[in-house]
Amino acid sequence: MVGFALFASILCLAQSLRQAGDQDGVLIGAAVRPSQFLETDYASTLAREFNLVEPEDAMKWRTLRPDASTYDFRQGDEVVLFAHEHQMKVRGHCLVWGRDNPDWLTQNHFTTRRLSRVLHEHITRVMTHYENQVFAWDVVNEALDENGNVRDSIWYNQPGIGFSGKGTAYIEQVFRWARKADPHALLFYNEAEGEGLNRKSDAVYAMVKDFKQRGVPIDGVGLQLHVPKLDVNIQAIAVNVARLNALGLQVHITELDVSLPVEADGLALVDDLTRQGDVYRGIARACLKSSGCTAIQMWGFTDKYSWIGSHSHRTRGAALPFDQTYRPKAAYRAIWEELSTGRSLSVDH
Ligand code: XIL
Repeated sequence: MVGFALFASILCLAQSLRQAGDQDGVLIGAAVRPSQFLETDYASTLAREFNLVEPEDAMKWRTLRPDASTYDFRQGDEVVLFAHEHQMKVRGHCLVWGRDNPDWLTQNHFTTRRLSRVLHEHITRVMTHYENQVFAWDVVNEALDENGNVRDSIWYNQPGIGFSGKGTAYIEQVFRWARKADPHALLFYNEAEGEGLNRKSDAVYAMVKDFKQRGVPIDGVGLQLHVPKLDVNIQAIAVNVARLNALGLQVHITELDVSLPVEADGLALVDDLTRQGDVYRGIARACLKSSGCTAIQMWGFTDKYSWIGSHSHRTRGAALPFDQTYRPKAAYRAIWEELSTGRSLSVDH
């Protein structure tokens, strides 16, 4: 990195992703685990390269709510403090999701009315606690299935908060509560595997279009972009981003990673790393094509810590732009080059 920084400064080039992103008006983010902040390389790389952080797990129900009457904000507060110390913004994740909920919530057989009150109170309490500190929230996460139908969940119909069988009505209710709780925070619907053009992304589009038309408070859509294979239809992503922007919604890329097959030591083939760089480049370019694509965030930043290994039983990994020793990979270089090239606004104009 020292050599790169010297080279960049001599040529007056951006010396980090965050500097390059600043030039384009796009935030460059990473999901973080506060338990790693004490590791010098982790903290210094994060602070140098990124101007946006999102707690990977620290603001989920399972972490915030050890029991029905307690709010444990300690880990979330650590993320906010780190961000404050390094002039970074914070995305909150996530207020409503069918997963990563504590047992007392999912196994308690609440009535609909009681569950509705529990959720309303949670949203109000958490958003109030982080008012002026979290600038954008994933209000609802992964509520649709691959066919575009509303997923079964504790919030929808098991037992649900009172809108079972009524499609996206429960999502609408939650966005209304969120706007009241913190009128200044940007409110996002965040979704997986609906980044290009498919039944799920069509359903997300139809839902948020309907919300916009009826004045349901929503400011943006988060595209997760956990990429499991190297042949990605970048053009479809660009078209999806553009059509969402055309509704007057922002798009954030929220959980980008590009996983590769790895050996037991977690290392990938050199060819794959090069192709991975091309995928990162394409996605960065797809975002920069639309002025309403305002954040590119990765789900971590170093291959040393990534959720991919834990769910793929370590057969896949190496998904992020820095390797296990915090050296920038081809993927880093690709994002940096795209950001340095700047926006070429073509799709939405
Ligand atoms: C993952 C975290 O990375 C893991 O640490 C945790 O054990 C499970 O959740 N979509 C999301 C994220 O919205 O919250 C998930 O994060 C990854 C998939």
